[in-house]
Amino acid sequence: MFGKILKKLDEKLLKSEPRTGKLFAVAALFDKPDDIIHAAEKVTERGYKNYDVLTPYPLHGMDGAMKLKPSKIGWVAFIAGISGTTLAFLMMWWMSGIDYKIIFGGKPYFNLPPSIPIMFELTVLISAIVLVNSLILIYMKLPANANPLMDTEFIKRVTSDKFGIYIQADDPKFNVDEVRGLFQSLGSSSVSNINEAEYEKGDSKNPLLSLKFMGVVAGTCVVTVLVSYFVLQVLLFMPPFSWMHEQPKLLPQGKSNFFKDNWSMRRPVEGTVARGFIPYEFKGMPDSMVVPTPNPLPVTKKVLEVGKKRFDTYCSPCHGYFGKGDSRLRGQFPAPPSLHTEKVRNWKDANIYHVITNGQNVMPSYESSISRDDRWAIIHYIRVLQRSQNAPDSDLESK
Ligand code: HEC
Repeated sequence: MFGKILKKLDEKLLKSEPRTGKLFAVAALFDKPDDIIHAAEKVTERGYKNYDVLTPYPLHGMDGAMKLKPSKIGWVAFIAGISGTTLAFLMMWWMSGIDYKIIFGGKPYFNLPPSIPIMFELTVLISAIVLVNSLILIYMKLPANANPLMDTEFIKRVTSDKFGIYIQADDPKFNVDEVRGLFQSLGSSSVSNINEAEYEKGDSKNPLLSLKFMGVVAGTCVVTVLVSYFVLQVLLFMPPFSWMHEQPKLLPQGKSNFFKDNWSMRRPVEGTVARGFIPYEFKGMPDSMVVPTPNPLPVTKKVLEVGKKRFDTYCSPCHGYFGKGDSRLRGQFPAPPSLHTEKVRNWKDANIYHVITNGQNVMPSYESSISRDDRWAIIHYIRVLQRSQNAPDSDLESK
């Protein structure tokens, strides 16, 4: 059925000449690029407005000959692009700054640098969409999908080996004989009248808007929507396709019907402590308030190995592999101090534990990344490092 309609439309559109509709334009063909530029200059000089030049390839100097102003399409792109940038900025600001605040590594909720790729993408996307659509709707005048020039000898020639110019009949200065005379005096090899195709009574001028065609398009849309809906919303949730969907677990951001607030992510019940977790009682307190407790781990080779491993992973990036404060970060970051100072050597283990757990000024807390036991193991290892640099004389005495 679709094919039949298209064929009929084709027949109507391509009704071959001679056409009987009203005069659309007078067209002339020229053989050489110089001739057409000269013709364009003369036509502009005579004050014609509704005319156009068609050539098989772009000609240098044609814009000047036709006195064309620079295209406005750049402004369309600019305005669309700026709207895209603004839209993306507002979207990111609202989503991450207001609607759904999530902490990422202690950074501000809304932050410009990570929003830039999205702003860039939307700039390009919106300007591309607006440009293509304004091209189709404004410049190409959709839904008008035909032009009286189509299927004329004139258009066949100018898309292959001749240079053409036509003046439309709706030009205020238009007069058939004058225009024909002008083209002939300019040396045109062929001057022709182009008529509009005649439409039968009741026929839409735009075949795209004809009821049958619109009906087919609308029908196709409805069928596509219904089939996609059925497949994606119904079929996929029927056994056996649903087997992978239904899992007895809740994702952190998922919905739970068990709790009244529907959140599956829960805070610990007030006043309770999670299994295997002992809260640090001096959290947030100044160093002087820490009541020293001894290191609960024995000094064994195994503990020291764990301590070295954790120290190398978590502490060495700043304090250096030997705790001398000589890592690559020295000079860039507020330089991390040496752990061999008299202050730290004289500190109780509990004071170092406090710094690791609590953080100190610019040094962040490592409470969430290093387990309690590993923290104490690191301290044993720091003691080993300290003793290697500041061994007392007694260490050298034979026992
Ligand atoms: C991101 C870099 C960084 C990392 C990683 C880091 N520190 Fe620090 N640390 C610092 C800075 C900077 C200071 C100085 C803080 C200040 O100004 O009080 C410091 C201070 C300290 C102090 C106190 C020193 C003093 O003289 O007050 C100790 C002890 C310490 N760190 C131990 C550790 C241990 C143990 C680790 C590994 C678990 C570690 N640090 C990981 C940067 C770091």
